[in-house]
Amino acid sequence: MKLQFLVNKLFIPFLVASLFSFKAIGQLKATSSSNETINLVVDLNATGVKIQPTMYGIFFEDINFAADGGLYAEMVKNRSFEFLDSKMGWLEPNSNKLSLNNQSGYLSPIKYAGQNTNQTYARVEVKGPKYELINEGFRGMGVKKDAKYNLTINAKKFSGDITKIKIQFIDSLNNVLGETIILPKGKNWKSYETQLTASKTILKTKLKFTFEGTGEIDLDMISLFPVDTWKGRKKGLRKDLVQLLDDLNPGFLRFPGGCIVEGRTLARRYQWKKTIGNIEDRELLVNRWNTEFAHKPAPDYYQSFGLGFFEYFLLSEDLGAEPLPILSCGIACQFNTGELVPMEELDPYVQDALDLIEFANGSISTSWGKLRADMGHPEPFNVKYLGIGNEQWGEAYIERYEVFHKAIKAKYPEIVLVSGSGPFPDGDYFEYGWEELKKLNVEIVDEHYYRQPQWFRDNANRYDSYDRNGPKVFAGEYAAHPKDVEDGSKENNWETALSEAAFMTGLERNADVVNLTSYAPLMAHVDAFQWAPDMIWFNNLESYGTANYYVQKLYGNNSGTDLIAITRDGKAVTGQNDLYATAAKDMIKKEVIIKLVNTSNQPKSIIIDLTGYKLKSKGEIIVLSHPNLMGINSFEDPFTISPKETEYILKRNKAELSLQPYSFSILKFNL
Ligand code: AHR
Repeated sequence: MKLQFLVNKLFIPFLVASLFSFKAIGQLKATSSSNETINLVVDLNATGVKIQPTMYGIFFEDINFAADGGLYAEMVKNRSFEFLDSKMGWLEPNSNKLSLNNQSGYLSPIKYAGQNTNQTYARVEVKGPKYELINEGFRGMGVKKDAKYNLTINAKKFSGDITKIKIQFIDSLNNVLGETIILPKGKNWKSYETQLTASKTILKTKLKFTFEGTGEIDLDMISLFPVDTWKGRKKGLRKDLVQLLDDLNPGFLRFPGGCIVEGRTLARRYQWKKTIGNIEDRELLVNRWNTEFAHKPAPDYYQSFGLGFFEYFLLSEDLGAEPLPILSCGIACQFNTGELVPMEELDPYVQDALDLIEFANGSISTSWGKLRADMGHPEPFNVKYLGIGNEQWGEAYIERYEVFHKAIKAKYPEIVLVSGSGPFPDGDYFEYGWEELKKLNVEIVDEHYYRQPQWFRDNANRYDSYDRNGPKVFAGEYAAHPKDVEDGSKENNWETALSEAAFMTGLERNADVVNLTSYAPLMAHVDAFQWAPDMIWFNNLESYGTANYYVQKLYGNNSGTDLIAITRDGKAVTGQNDLYATAAKDMIKKEVIIKLVNTSNQPKSIIIDLTGYKLKSKGEIIVLSHPNLMGINSFEDPFTISPKETEYILKRNKAELSLQPYSFSILKFNL
């Protein structure tokens, strides 16, 4: 099945595309001479199409350690010993179970009696001072000098008398970089809280536990978080990563995926109800990307759901983004098992959708609304959108979607439903899906495309021919891929980002049809990724935005509210002479925003005639460019490709400028 996923989804499209456009990779060519001047006209009065506030958003999936080991700031891996191998992530360098005389000890996983979630805890038998228990973190634990870390642990003494547990950050040479203690008391479960301060900045530390006294002690939910989280929330999210998201000014947050919504099997689908409430009771799941790619195994990839649906809603609220949850429609990933829930057994799935709306929006007198209030958010989250299924295709999807549609619209007619057209931007699945969804009069159709950069440059006019009276489009997952998936972080090169910038002029120019868009995937841990390219890369201490990130950021922060026409010889600018353009007004900020993408290796002389009414002369130009299409950002040079802003003076309502080679420029003037 793994192979099937790769072959169907990735290799075939790439191989086919490669046969036809191999030469184009990394070889954008100049097709217009450098001194030819291109005249463009912007008609400031030609408005009518609204650009939806949701136009540029975020797609979040727990792939590449984006949640556990990433955004969710927990530093202890397998904190509750629930992984299939209960001791995964835990090291016992001197352990010895059998010898009675040695000075060490041993950890044994024990099952709670009659507990369905958080089923396991650890019984640590300490025979002497040599015993050490170490958690390796998510490919290490990053700590910052003088930063504080909160440790919580549930413990109870079982036998003997263990009087003290010492907890230390250690580096690879066993040097201690900060320590604390807890003094366990009593034979009942008790929660202990303490704090460590790191004495150095180190990317990969571990957390060591040593014990005073001998005997057996039971431990569970051993958890460590930085104090300095996003908004200072206890057990919260990584601040640097959320900041990068916030800076995108996203219109929506789609969660929790992606394929993890569907699961490899139905039993392993994402079930939102299991991700809310008390964190200790959230049932762990093997992450679906754990085994997806044979050459990229991630046996330690699980979903703890510490970042669950409540937290996703909260994050949406923090970001000022519309929450867009996607739910299983009763079909497991069709690249894996494609398991189907029989139609007559679909009710619980539909009920999950109805209950989710109540959880998000219901008054606190409803049972799900009350749970939201009990979790600390009595105000509704005001969810407006709901996605049914991720990347499903075929009849099985259409008939299931229809059932959801009827039930949800009957109870919540105001909720906008997002349906899907499958994993590819064309072909049989896509055609069939669109045809059937149109018959059902659906509101929004999700489209996905992972294609070579050339495809993006060639498809800036993709939506020009879409039916203006048909469903709206959610370009829900897209990214330009120079190579196959998961070849490495370096694939976020300038050619991919520039090609996406060019393509996005077409998304914006068709804002009457395209209402939501998001790049995918969003994040990747540099030591634990399964899929590349990705918009944001991080390690256990730092993170940076790729060139693709800055393209998204520029669109997200300069989207405008009303589309206006920008033309050359009366035609839209969709790649003729390697030039792409779109223009908008922002009626709130009172700005005119013109986006221009030059994909040639030559500068381009442009004159833009702004007609309609007089603009103030003082404006601004923001340029994102790089001379080398293979250029990338990195941890060492995170801003190599990042926007540069300068003043721009308009002369008699005309903008004359020379676009840099390989550049994405935004001109802004005050209305
Ligand atoms: O973005 C990575 C994956 O691509 C998503 O999980 C899935 O929807 C698509 O196949």
